[in-house]
Amino acid sequence: MQALMLLLWAGALLGPGSCQDNAGSLEDSPAPDTTGVPVEEEDPFFKVPVNKLAAAISNFGYDLYRVRSSLSPTANVLLSPLSVATALSALSLGAEQRTESTIHRALYYDLISNPDIHGTYKELLAAVTAPQKNFKSASRIIFERKLRIKSSFVAPLEKSYGTRPRILTGNSRLDLQEVNNWVQAQMKGKIARSTREIPSEISILLLGVAYFKGQWVTKFDPRKTSLEDFHLDEERTVRVPMMSDPKAILRYGLDSDLSCKIAQLPLTGSMSIIFFLPLKVTQNLTMIEESLTSEFIHDIDRELKTIQAVLTIPKLKLSYEGEVTKSLQEMKLQSLFDSPDFTKITGKPIKLTQVEHRGGFEWNEDGASTAPSTGLQPARLTFPLDYHLNQPFIFVLRDTDTGALLFIGKILDPRGI
Ligand SMILES: *[C@@H]1O[C@H](CO)[C@@H](O)[C@H](O)[C@H]1NC(C)=O
Repeated sequence: MQALMLLLWAGALLGPGSCQDNAGSLEDSPAPDTTGVPVEEEDPFFKVPVNKLAAAISNFGYDLYRVRSSLSPTANVLLSPLSVATALSALSLGAEQRTESTIHRALYYDLISNPDIHGTYKELLAAVTAPQKNFKSASRIIFERKLRIKSSFVAPLEKSYGTRPRILTGNSRLDLQEVNNWVQAQMKGKIARSTREIPSEISILLLGVAYFKGQWVTKFDPRKTSLEDFHLDEERTVRVPMMSDPKAILRYGLDSDLSCKIAQLPLTGSMSIIFFLPLKVTQNLTMIEESLTSEFIHDIDRELKTIQAVLTIPKLKLSYEGEVTKSLQEMKLQSLFDSPDFTKITGKPIKLTQVEHRGGFEWNEDGASTAPSTGLQPARLTFPLDYHLNQPFIFVLRDTDTGALLFIGKILDPRGI
């Protein structure tokens, strides 16, 4: 796991110890043990079973994001990996040992000793989809027509994941309509109906859907929103609606290893968004992407410093609908598509054929209050800091309570094109 090194603007921070050379260094170096090999004390946060599970599936989520992003280097990426992880975790209830461990390894369950993974998963889902989170997520397993499913699979699926398997009728129009109705009901109509036909050669289809509309802790003044430049790359610029706050209170750090400025803005419901903004305009965010793990994000969350900044941020309304099949095949899950063992589900040989994801994500000026909470005392800076999300950036939507990754986005063009 890479060590986190965050520096505030060198010299910009006034405070105790600011005359030392390493003022503002937030480096956390683990104490060496007697053999000289650094060992990391496990953070108490990760000792809570729900948080530990959240870290595992979020690490799956960062893996999925990396593959997805590398498959579309010049396009936005919007992903709620949790819904895909949930479908896979649920599917593993029907997998015999070899196939089960393939899924469990991808979800990093092999690194957590939890005899009741599925029970803990139920707790996690309840925590992150509580009404105050404004986050909806649902997953479903859809099987080929006429398949006879064992009730010993259906019962635990319903118990832990609150979902019933669906068996296709074979009538593609009816099947699409039924799936659309299910998505509408789960997402309360926030996700558009799909027109993508369900292929006839489906054996197992996994579907994960998610929707989020952020409520900032401190709302933006709509009168300060205006059309501003967004630099798509070094040459091209577009005009997009940008919200701004000349006196925003945010948490901030400069990561010199990743050459990016990290900022965190709180949302209501104990949620936050962490932004990764490269120091120069580029569509190549590979270096940042490579460093994303649950542990890294957790360290960032602990070590950023509260400051006041001139903040501009594009309004955002994005949706995604499509397959993540190819991405999963590149993630050591190929065997699920070849000859997996799902004899706990049915006697007939079945295999994963398709994984679909639908997501909707939105933020605008909306927030809970007009004034920042008085409890936050920003560090005093010698000059005002600018934080302008007017060039390609990455954002991570994280549940503060469990640390779970709920959405991740690569925004190359905020118009969503
Ligand atoms: C993107 O950046 C990485 C790391 O800095 C580099 O290795 C890679 O070659 C770059 N990719 C492109 C397409 O420029």
